[in-house]
Amino acid sequence: MSQYLKTFLEHTLLKYLSDNRYSSLTNSELNSLASDIIELSNLFTKERKILPPQYLNNKRLRRAYILYFLPSNIYKIHLPLKELSLHPKKILSKKELKILDLGSGPGTTILGILDFFSNQKKKPSLEFTAIDSVAENLSITKDLFKLYIENINIDASLKTFKINVEKAGAIPQDTYDIIILSNILNELFYNDEKKNAERVSFLNTIIDKFLTPDGSCIIIEPALRETTREMLEIRDSLVKNGFKIHSPCLIDDPCPALSNPKDWCHEDIPWIPPVIIKEIDKLTGLRKDSLKFSYLVLRKDKLSLTDVLEKNSCRIVSEPLISKGKLEFYICGHGGRQLITRLDKDETPSNIQFQKLQRGDIVTFEALIDKGKRLKVGKNTVVKRQFLSLKKA
Ligand SMILES: C[S@@+](CC[C@H](N)C(=O)[O-])C[C@H]1O[C@@H](n2cnc3c(N)ncnc32)[C@H](O)[C@@H]1O
Repeated sequence: MSQYLKTFLEHTLLKYLSDNRYSSLTNSELNSLASDIIELSNLFTKERKILPPQYLNNKRLRRAYILYFLPSNIYKIHLPLKELSLHPKKILSKKELKILDLGSGPGTTILGILDFFSNQKKKPSLEFTAIDSVAENLSITKDLFKLYIENINIDASLKTFKINVEKAGAIPQDTYDIIILSNILNELFYNDEKKNAERVSFLNTIIDKFLTPDGSCIIIEPALRETTREMLEIRDSLVKNGFKIHSPCLIDDPCPALSNPKDWCHEDIPWIPPVIIKEIDKLTGLRKDSLKFSYLVLRKDKLSLTDVLEKNSCRIVSEPLISKGKLEFYICGHGGRQLITRLDKDETPSNIQFQKLQRGDIVTFEALIDKGKRLKVGKNTVVKRQFLSLKKA
């Protein structure tokens, strides 16, 4: 985390939300904030079915969102952007990038993108368009944008529109290099019996009408099983319709996680939360000690992260599974979703990287032992992790 963003999250945000009165909360303020956060967290998880359509119209819930969910959501955009910037076609190196943020909320992803590019040597000029159905979110987006760019050296502008994005025809006609849908896809067409078919048709329209031919559509979703499986079903439909997944998938086959109703695929990035989040976690019993999310990057031009990877690269799609005498992971690649095992007694310098693997890592194996359903890392297997710095928050 850059020092600037750390200060922004720990002080500027609090000061802004308390009308510049203080930069820390009293105990009673902290307690009532904690109960609002529990209410919102329940609505996002076990009470999702009763999440009201315009929940961020509620001042208490909006404040809870900004103080608890915005800080962690800010970083989630960094991983897809880092993966896009690895491509030799220099996908993000244009002089000017036009960015459309659908369901911008309080401007979370816009702040994340500003943070990403302000730490790059070559900074494009950034032209943001934020759309949300809640007017108050948009005025907060404008305020936070202004506060954030005050002290960074970046050329950026912002337009906002209060629109229900489900009516794609209402979105201002233009084309964008990046279209973001961060934590909104699962809220669209929610009460529709064929909600996923509606979402696929919505994405087809958005990408067709508003994405430049060399643009990227980035979808970020909560790491919950239900919302992620819905996103993966949408992924399969879009691939069938001819879209290329730039990342995280390294294969174009139907998603192997969908064949077992218990499986889903998500990222998990370690981070150090701001002090206020640690305090709230102590009061609520919630845990925001890492960044969990699912994502998809779609392109029309078929460029993909696989263009820069060695053939047969695969993703780690589970936590390390540690049991007596062995270490295992699930990997996803050309063989589908497979379990891979290394017995502790087979540890050698050539496979030592195996025990350093983390969910989301990209890895290649040489001289792997294929035992049908299971793959085995033997003494002679060479394990190589790729792009190690990608997962730093
Ligand atoms: C969970 S918040 C996500 C905010 C932000 N993108 C983030 O990742 O932190 C979802 C946002 O989508 C907006 N939203 C939901 N349905 C919408 C719709 N049909 N049209 C426009 N905005 C919508 C909500 O008002 C809310 O601000």
